[in-house]
Formats: sequence, C-alpha cells, structure tokens
Amino acid sequence: MRTIIIAGNWKMYKDLSETRELVAALKAAMPSLPEHVESVICPPYPSLALAGELLKGSPFHLGAQNMSQHDEGAYTGEVSAKMLKATGCTFVILGHSERRQYYGETNELINAKARKALSAGLRPIICVGETLDEREKGVTGEVITTQIKGVLASIPPQDMARSVIAYEPVWAIGTGRTATPQQAQEVHQVIRKMVAQLYDWALAERIVIQYGGSVKPDNAAEILSQNDVDGALVGGACLKADSFSAIIRAARQ
Ligand code: PGA
Repeated sequence: MRTIIIAGNWKMYKDLSETRELVAALKAAMPSLPEHVESVICPPYPSLALAGELLKGSPFHLGAQNMSQHDEGAYTGEVSAKMLKATGCTFVILGHSERRQYYGETNELINAKARKALSAGLRPIICVGETLDEREKGVTGEVITTQIKGVLASIPPQDMARSVIAYEPVWAIGTGRTATPQQAQEVHQVIRKMVAQLYDWALAERIVIQYGGSVKPDNAAEILSQNDVDGALVGGACLKADSFSAIIRAARQ
C-alpha cells in the first residue's frame, strides 16, 4: 500500500503571528495522523524557520513552495536548498502552475530545481497540469506526457523513488471547480504509466501521485479513494486547521 501524502500549500498567506496560530491549531487538531498518512505544511519563506521550530515533535513535515536551482551565489531574492534544510524543510513544491504562469518557469528549469533538491536530500513535490484550453482541445494526455518527460529528465531511479508528483489541472486551482474523481484517476494513470516507461513498473507502483485543485473536506474522500490518487496538494482549504485536518482524516476513510 502506498503512503498517502497530504500537503498544504499556504501560498502567499500567513505572517509570523498567523503562522504561530495556524501551526498551534493544526497540532491541537491532529496530535497524530492516521496510519500510512503523512502530511506536509508549506508556509511562505519568512515563516519556515518559525514553523520548523513549532513543528518539532509533531507529525507534520515542513516544506517550501519554491527553491533556487543554484547552490549559492549572487541571485538576489533566491533561496537555496541548503537554506531550506536549515529551517527543517524535508519537502519542496516545485513547478507549481502559478510559478509556471506568473514567473515563466519551464519544464527545464523545474527539472534543474528537482535535481538540486534531490541531491540536497529534499523530497520534491513536482507539479504538472493542463490548462482549460488544453483540456477542451483534447490534448491533456500529450501535455502531461511532455511535462513529465521534461521535469523528470536525468533523475536517477533512487531519487525518483523519493519524489512526489502532483497533478493539478490549472482550471481547478482556486476555482472551486474540481476534476471529477474519474478525470483525476485517468490522468494519474497516464502519469504512472509514463513513470513505468521512463523507469520500471516496480518504481511506478511506489511513486506518490497527489491530486491538487479545489480539494475540500467534502470532496477529499472521493478523490482520494481513486486507485492512483495517493494524496492531495491543498491550497485554500489548508489555511484553516479544521478543514485541513478534515482532509487528512478523509485520506483513510
Ligand atoms: P486550491 O489550490 O486548493 O486552492 O485549488 C491548490 C494548489 O494550488 O496547490
């Protein structure tokens, strides 16, 4: 049985005092997690060190929302894998559609970041997903295949085994419009098959593939019950402890 990973992407929400409040509420709501379920919270950079301290002894992992592809240097505004690790991060979200859309991130750049994260010992949550236009044109499969090939290029099998893939249809992010469980399952199967082609079936069967896009307490159980859906990347609903913990509980219903 694959572990289920529920990650909360806080995006650009929560300053330090709000971080303190939300982490305290999450720890109170979820002193332990269901069996075979892991959870990661991904606050903005300025909150990472504080969240890392506050999460010590809790069942939650810490993750960042982005990272530089470089080790160090004159890269104003950037943050390295080593810096993230020093705050307690063990995960990092890479290639989120908002990074692709607003900051021009390409599959090639996301791949460079993923390889850097892995070599530093971080587990990347690598995001892929089609736009509404691409879905309506019927090219979802091709788009996902191209993204997967690009973002996973040259990642060795032992590193791939530690990587998480998040399928996030762009049209479902922050829109309240979720993919149906069948739509999610279909694309997750395409992704797992691609991983099997690029590596092998044994590895593909172990990879955690999360779904993201308007996951809420009332739709989480159904989406997560699909065979190839092994977790969720949650935006809006992770900003409140009650809704995020309800999604975590839904993972093993
Ligand atoms: P959402 O965001 O749950 O608010 O749709 C998901 C994401 O962007 O990771």
